[in-house]
Amino acid sequence: MGSFGGRRVLVTGGAGALGSVIVRSFVAAGADVAILDLDAGRAGALADELDGNGQRVRPVGADLTDHDATLAAITPVLDGWGGIDILVNAAGGGTVKPFAEMDAATWRVQMARNLDSVFHATRAVLPDMLERRDGRIVNIASVAAIAGGRLVRGATAYATAKAGVVGLTKALAIEVAERGVTVNALAPGAQATPGRDNDTPERREALLAQIPTRLLGEPQHLADVVLFLASASAVNITGVVLPLDGGHSI
Ligand SMILES: NC(=O)c1ccc[n+]([C@@H]2O[C@H](COP(=O)([O-])OP(=O)(O)OC[C@H]3O[C@@H](n4cnc5c(N)ncnc54)[C@H](O)[C@@H]3O)[C@@H](O)[C@H]2O)c1
Repeated sequence: MGSFGGRRVLVTGGAGALGSVIVRSFVAAGADVAILDLDAGRAGALADELDGNGQRVRPVGADLTDHDATLAAITPVLDGWGGIDILVNAAGGGTVKPFAEMDAATWRVQMARNLDSVFHATRAVLPDMLERRDGRIVNIASVAAIAGGRLVRGATAYATAKAGVVGLTKALAIEVAERGVTVNALAPGAQATPGRDNDTPERREALLAQIPTRLLGEPQHLADVVLFLASASAVNITGVVLPLDGGHSI
């Protein structure tokens, strides 16, 4: 049994590029993991692959932009497992559109996908964490929230929504600090995920030129930080927004 043996984890966006690495890391560390994703098929395939080592790994298909659907999807996990100890909010994703051409529908979708989703999932698991006085919440924001859209121009809606995640992280951290729950966020810069595979050499060089270390983030390194913030050692760390960006936001 790993260091997370007996811990019950919910990862939103758990079928995605970063979420799936986080899921694998928690499973490798002995946790029970619920993989919540809009793409129920990919969540199911990942759960099938990881289930069966004595730990519980289950897929949860849900659209996190829908409050009632999120609650309806998470409640059976809460009831079946008797609680969620660790919530990682990793669902999200950006759309690039110049602000002067921004339409209300695109704006709303970005808020729903990146900010409402965090509210809905957190609202679903928090009462149980507070009641048991034990919880860890780790939100995946973005460097866009603290450094604007310098890495990707036209990311105003995404940056705004992720800045909302930062605000939620800090305000909620204070609100629940005395009740055994910590709330932290990561602000990753560009990660070496499949989304970057199609970069032209020019695009890649332009990106690296803005990152002092000249390194893209490694998803496994990000997952390692998530596990640290979710660990017993991080009991007195809360309200932190940690850039994982090679110095880009300095
Ligand atoms: N990849 C990067 O370089 C990078 C950098 C900074 C921040 N981030 C953030 O990290 C998180 C994960 O990014 P990724 O690269 O793994 O993206 P990804 O697209 O690979 O994964 C995102 C996952 O979220 C799921 N999702 C999207 N909308 C959803 C909804 N309404 N309900 C339920 N699930 C939904 C998708 O199905 C997908 O599996 C995102 O929040 C993203 O904004 C990524």
